[in-house]
Amino acid sequence: MNTAAITAVGHYAPEKVVPNSYFESYLDTTEEWIMSRTGIRERRFLENGATSDLAVEAARKALAMRGISPEEVECIIIATVTPDMFFPSTAALVQHKLGAKNAWGFDLSGACSGFLYALATGVQFIQAGTYTKVLVIGADKMTSIVDMEDRNTCILFGDGGAAVLLEPNEEEGYGIIDWVNYMDGSGMEALHMKAGGSLRPSTLETVQNKMHYITQDGKAVFKVAVVGMADVSVEIMKRNNLKSEDIAWLVPHQANMRIIQSTADRMGLDMDHVMVNIDRYGNTTAATIPSCLAEYHADGRLKRGDNIVLASFGAGYTWGASLIKWSI
Ligand code: COA
Repeated sequence: MNTAAITAVGHYAPEKVVPNSYFESYLDTTEEWIMSRTGIRERRFLENGATSDLAVEAARKALAMRGISPEEVECIIIATVTPDMFFPSTAALVQHKLGAKNAWGFDLSGACSGFLYALATGVQFIQAGTYTKVLVIGADKMTSIVDMEDRNTCILFGDGGAAVLLEPNEEEGYGIIDWVNYMDGSGMEALHMKAGGSLRPSTLETVQNKMHYITQDGKAVFKVAVVGMADVSVEIMKRNNLKSEDIAWLVPHQANMRIIQSTADRMGLDMDHVMVNIDRYGNTTAATIPSCLAEYHADGRLKRGDNIVLASFGAGYTWGASLIKWSI
C-alpha cells in the first residue's frame, strides 16, 4: 500500500490586520481580557472576496513550492464551514480560478476538525493508488458568519486559508502514519448556525433575529474541547508507542491558547514543541492547522523525520488527531 506524504504547503492570510483594540473601541471588552482569556492579539479580515479566494491563494503557494502546474492536480478537497455559496461547491470555484482543469473535488464540512477530516480523506486516494496529486485545503472566511456585536464570539475568529499537497510517499516510514477522527452530533446545541440551511431557510425574520451568525456556548465548548483534544492526542501517541520526547511538534487547532496549553501538558510537551499562531490570526477554523505547518516550514523549524501530531476539536462536535513523519 502507498502511504501519502505532504510534499508542499501554502498559507494565505488576508492583508487587513485587526488588533484587539478594534473591539475595545465599540464593545464592552478590553485588549487584556481578549489576550489573557484566548491568547489572541490580532486577526486578519478579508475585505474583498470569499473563501475560494483564500483557498486559491494558499493553493497557488503550495503548487509554487512544489513547482507543479495546476493542471497536474487530480483532486481538490476543501474543508470549510463558510463556502462561497451552497452550490456549486467552493472546490468547483477554486478549480476554475486556479486553472486546475484536470481536477474534480468537493467540499467537506467538519468545522474546526475539517482539515483533519479532509486530510484523512485525501490520504485514501493516495493509498488506494487512485491519484498521485491531491490538494487538501482548509479555508474559512469566518467574518461572514460572525456577529460583530457579540463580544463572546467576534473576538475569537479570523479569515484565512492554507493548503497542502498530498503525493505518494517515496520512502518507507515517512508521511501520514496514522489518524483517528471522531464525531458526536449531540454537540450541535453548543455550537451551530441557526438559519440559512434547509431546517430554517433564510427569511426576513431569520435575518432580523441574527440567526445567520455563529451561536456558541463558549463555556460548554471550552470544557469538552479541553478534554477531547488532549484525549485524542494522547490516544494517537499511545497507538504508535510514542513518548513525549519522541514528538517534535504538536500542531493544535488554534481556538484558545488555554486549550492548546492544556493539550500540551497532557502530552508532556513543553510549549517550545507546540506550533502557535493564534496570537496573530485567531481561530480561522479549517485553516489553523495547515497554516501552522506552512509557517513553521517556511521558517525552517520543521525537519525531515520530525514526528508531528496534528490535533483538533470543533463544532459537531468533531475531533481528531493525525500523526505525520515529516518528509520535506
Ligand atoms: N470581553 C469581556 N468579557 C467577556 C467577553 C469579552 N470579549 N466575552 C465574554 N465575556 C464575559 C462573559 O460574558 C462572562 O461574563 P459573566 O460571568 O458576567 O457572564 C465572563 O466574561 C466570563 O465568561 P466565560 O465564558 O467564563 O469566559 P471564558 O474564560 O470561558 O472565555 C471563551 C470565553 C469564549 C474565550 C472561552 O470559553 C472559549 O474559548 N471557549 C471555546 C470556544 C471555541 O473554541 N470555539 C470554537 C470551536 S473550537
